[in-house]
Amino acid sequence: MLGFNSKEKAADGTVPEGADDLKPPQHVAIIMDGNGRWATKRGLPRIAGHKRGLNSVRKVTREAKALGIRYLTLFAFSTENWLRPREEVHGLMDLFRFYMRRECKVLVSEGVRIKFIGDPSEMPEDIQKLMVEAEELTAKGEVMTLVVALNYGARAEIVRAAARISERVAAGELTGNDITEETISAELTTSGIPDPDLILRTSGEQRLSNFLLWQAAYTEFLFVDKHWPDFDQTSLRQAVIAYNTRDRRFGAVRKTA
Ligand code: FPP
Repeated sequence: MLGFNSKEKAADGTVPEGADDLKPPQHVAIIMDGNGRWATKRGLPRIAGHKRGLNSVRKVTREAKALGIRYLTLFAFSTENWLRPREEVHGLMDLFRFYMRRECKVLVSEGVRIKFIGDPSEMPEDIQKLMVEAEELTAKGEVMTLVVALNYGARAEIVRAAARISERVAAGELTGNDITEETISAELTTSGIPDPDLILRTSGEQRLSNFLLWQAAYTEFLFVDKHWPDFDQTSLRQAVIAYNTRDRRFGAVRKTA
């Protein structure tokens, strides 16, 4: 599927300059960084940055769908984010509640399925319930899958997968020789989701911060010098244009070489 051509315009109806016949990545994953700095720069509490960040979540979700991206993953809360001040953690939990209560109907009407990755067991119980309800309510969405990483940590995810595989070996279901890359992928919370083609991080920081370590083996990276609340439809389109300039070889050589 082509991302931009005369038939498939972006959400605002425009075709970005120089963007004809671009191929959208199948899966874009985003580290939404810079909410705190965005707020601090304006003399606002950090939570005001997260609230603004929620607007970018909405804009980018709609635009990703319009561009033909099939999977959009958003890193919303890491296993390390519990170390933030209590007030900020509470504020973020309230935002997640608000989003799930308010946004699910919109996602259903747009054909977007929501899926959570990470360890839900450490989330507040009412949020766990909302997560299950949101997945059930949007389960029939076929246009795009919105993957929300909540209490997600890639190393913890790999450790859990290893523990589950060792249990299966102990139970005689598997032998050591049966363990392949597919066996491990199938035990991760991203099971069934293709690996990301593009991971982008906002706010200028250039690190992965324990995000999708296994899944990012051949992912392209893009670091955008904008705080997440300033990231909008145009920023996503520019990211897709940049992605289209990349030469992905997956360890092989170009066919034409
Ligand atoms: C990182 O910026 C951002 C977060 C830890 C939270 C992201 C959450 C949202 C955008 C809210 C809603 C999301 C969904 C999917 C409902 P930071 O606080 O680390 O920024 P800083 O590095 O400038 O301090």
